[in-house]
Amino acid sequence: MTGGASGELFSEERSAEVVAASFAHTPDPRLRQVVTSLVRHLHAFVKDVELTEEEWAVGIDFLTRTGQTSSDTRQEFILLSDVLGVSMLVETINHRTGGTSTESTVLGPFHVVDSPPRQLGDDIALDGKGTPCLVSGRVTGPDGEPLAGATVDVWQTNEDGFYDVQQPGIQPPGNLRGLFTTDDAGRFWFRSVVPRFYPIPDDGPVGQLLAATGRHPNRPAHLHFIAAAPGHRPVTTHVFVADSPYLDSDAVFGVKESLVREVPEVDDPARAAEVGLANPFRALTFDLSLLREDHP
Ligand code: BEZ
Ligand code: FE
Repeated sequence: MTGGASGELFSEERSAEVVAASFAHTPDPRLRQVVTSLVRHLHAFVKDVELTEEEWAVGIDFLTRTGQTSSDTRQEFILLSDVLGVSMLVETINHRTGGTSTESTVLGPFHVVDSPPRQLGDDIALDGKGTPCLVSGRVTGPDGEPLAGATVDVWQTNEDGFYDVQQPGIQPPGNLRGLFTTDDAGRFWFRSVVPRFYPIPDDGPVGQLLAATGRHPNRPAHLHFIAAAPGHRPVTTHVFVADSPYLDSDAVFGVKESLVREVPEVDDPARAAEVGLANPFRALTFDLSLLREDHP
């Protein structure tokens, strides 16, 4: 008689155990653990909601379209993971800091591997739109020691709420992104614009899910960072603008209290002249603290 690895035939009551047993001889112990747990949770879910055949078909169609919407330049499955909070959960589990370094948040789909190298003080707002803003900070190690030569990779949307890679031919390539290197005191500074809120791509199946469930697609205003230094763990994070709409309802659950900063107006003619901005100007300060590589 055929059946699961245990020989027990399928039944509604013991469906999870029977199917899990079929994976009992998976050679890789981690794969065995993951697939067994997945089966248990999936079966519990189906039983919990008593899934109908029509609902099962809708789910299959949704996942099929999610795959079909994905391409080299768009990852609808990651977006689905994002709006279900799974990306943030995986991120948070894998980057527990115990409060000793800058907290991380989601990478998002708009990072480019070859961010354009910039000089300290450069203006990354190549399209000239938006409210000018001085962005500055320090990268330090866990004891506050400055990390000279650390890299600070930044990217943000323009005033219309799009990243440069979403608007080829409309925005200049490299608009509002850049790779900076900290000075001897671990400092970085550059000119940009005050970030604004924007919607995640919502013209696909994930957008339909949000609409059907009465959720909005917006992310609060933020600027992305990846800070890295030799001998230290890199941090992928954002700084969020205090008072931005959607801070308490980010579509991808990325907000952490420790990452929110005011962007005050600064009235300092000497500093404005020094950094090449009209006075008064807006200023966003964000320091990043990295753990050492060998942190337990
Ligand atoms: C972003 O912040 O760029 C982002 C993150 C997750 C999904 C979509 C966009
Ligand atoms: Fe973003």
